Amino acid sequence: METDLDVDVAVIGGGIAGLTAALALKCAGHKVAVLEAARIGTGVTGHTTGKITSLHRLVYTELADRHGPKVAGSYGQANQAAVEHIARVVAEEGIDCDFRRVSNYTYAESDDALARIRDEAALAGRLGLPSTFTSDVPLPFAVRGALRFDHQAQFHAVKYLQGLARAVDGSGCHVFEDTRVTAVRDGAPAVVETGGGTVRAREVIVAANFPIGDPGLFAERCYLHRSYIVASQAPSARLDGTFISVDEPMRSILAIDVDGSRYVLTGGEGHRATETGDAALRYRRLEAFARERLGAGVTSFRWSTQDVMPLDGLPYVGTLSPTAAHVHVITGLRKWGLTNGTAGALILADTLSGRHNPWAAVFDTSRISPAGRAGREGQRLEPAEAAQPETVPAETSEQPEQPAQTEQTALAGLRPGEGTVVEIGGHKTAVYADDAGDLHAVSAICTHLGCTVEFNADDVTWDCPCHGSRFAADGAVIQGPAAEDLGPRPLPSRPAGPLPG
Ligand code: FES
Repeated sequence: METDLDVDVAVIGGGIAGLTAALALKCAGHKVAVLEAARIGTGVTGHTTGKITSLHRLVYTELADRHGPKVAGSYGQANQAAVEHIARVVAEEGIDCDFRRVSNYTYAESDDALARIRDEAALAGRLGLPSTFTSDVPLPFAVRGALRFDHQAQFHAVKYLQGLARAVDGSGCHVFEDTRVTAVRDGAPAVVETGGGTVRAREVIVAANFPIGDPGLFAERCYLHRSYIVASQAPSARLDGTFISVDEPMRSILAIDVDGSRYVLTGGEGHRATETGDAALRYRRLEAFARERLGAGVTSFRWSTQDVMPLDGLPYVGTLSPTAAHVHVITGLRKWGLTNGTAGALILADTLSGRHNPWAAVFDTSRISPAGRAGREGQRLEPAEAAQPETVPAETSEQPEQPAQTEQTALAGLRPGEGTVVEIGGHKTAVYADDAGDLHAVSAICTHLGCTVEFNADDVTWDCPCHGSRFAADGAVIQGPAAEDLGPRPLPSRPAGPLPG
C-alpha cells in the first residue's frame, strides 16, 4: 500500500477472520480495506490442519460446566453456522480449495474417555448439534468408540484464504499484502497508520490473531498455546473423516491431497508457549505415531503454530477495549479458528451493519468471566510477573560494542542455524548464525513488555517465554502481543577461527 485511503471499514489481518468479515461487509455494501502484514495465508490460518467442524473435542461439556448449557449451545450454533457459511462461500465464489464434506470424530481408547464421549454426545444432541455416538470408527487402529458429527468438512486453508482475498479485492474494496500496521487511533474517523500510507475508516476490525499493542489486556485473559504438526506420506487407504483423541497425549488426524500427493497430518504435543521443551523430540513423537498407528511413510513437512486460548473458553468478539468506540477485535479463537474466526467475523459484520446477531452477547469482549470457572483445568491468569520483564537499557554509544570474552566464546561456538543471547555492552543481544555462518544481531528484549527472547532452532524464530510473541530471525514480528520488531543491534565480530562444523 502506497497511498492514503478512505473506506467504511479497515480490517487488520488477512487470516480467515479478517477476510471473512471483509467479504461479508463488502456484500452488505461497505467499502473495505484489508491490511495484511505479510502475504495472505502465511499466518495462523495457513498453519491449521484444515478441519472445519463444530465438534471441538469435548468442548460442550467444558463450556456447559463453566457457563451453563445455554452458552454452550450458542457456541455450538455459531460454529455450526460457520461450517455452513464456509461451504456457501466456497460454492458462491467458486473457490478451488479442495473443500469436501467429511464426518468429524472425537475418539476414545480408554474406559474413562469412552464415558466422557458418551456424556458429550448426549449433551451435544440436546444442544441441537449433529451428534452421534458410534463404535464404528474408520481409523486403522482399534478404538473403543467415538462421538461423530456428520456433514462437517475439510479444505486447504491457504487456497480458501486466497479465494476470499480475490473475492474481497475490487469494486472499491482492497486487499493489501506486505502492509504492516504501525498505529491505530480510535475516533471519527478512526485512523490506521501503515508504513506506506494512512487509512481513515468509520470502523476498524483488528483480526490479527492477537491484537497489536493489546489495549484490551487480552494477554491477561488469554494464553498462547503452541502445537506441532507433521505431514507424512499417507498410506494407500484413504482416511474417511477427521479425528481427534480424548486420551492423552492428544492426537489430531486427517488426510489431505496436495499437488497430486496424499499426506496424513498428525497434530499434537501441545504446550503453553511460555513453557520450553525439546521441539525435535515432539516432532519425533508425532512421526512415530503416524508411522506406527496410521501406517504413514516418511515425513515431508513439519511446523508449529500458536493459538490464542481464552481462559474462560469463549472467543472474544467486540470492542477492542472498554473505552473503544470504533475499533473492534476478534481474538481468543482457541484451537478452532476456522469456525470460531468465521463466526466472529459474521458477528462483527452484523454488528457493523446494524443487524442483530444471536451469538454476539456470548462472545462479547466486555463480559466478565464467572469467578472460579476460568480455571477448571488448573489454568490461571498469567500476569507479567510470571516472568519479570527486564528494564531496557538506554542506548549508550553509537559505536559497535565488542563482546566480552564470555560472549566471544559463545559466538565462537555458534554453528550455522543456531542462535543465542549474549550481553554486549550492557545490551542483551539475540545473535543468529545463518546457513552460511554469517551472524545477524537484534535486540533480545521483547517489544511487548520487555522479557528476554529465546532462540527456537526448529522454526528459526526468536520466541518470548512471557506471553508467546514470536519474531523472525531478522527480528520482524511474526505473532503478537508484541507489535514492534526487535530492533537491529550492532553486529558483533565473530572471533577468528574456522566455523564450527
Ligand atoms: Fe509479553 Fe514478550 S513480554 S510477549
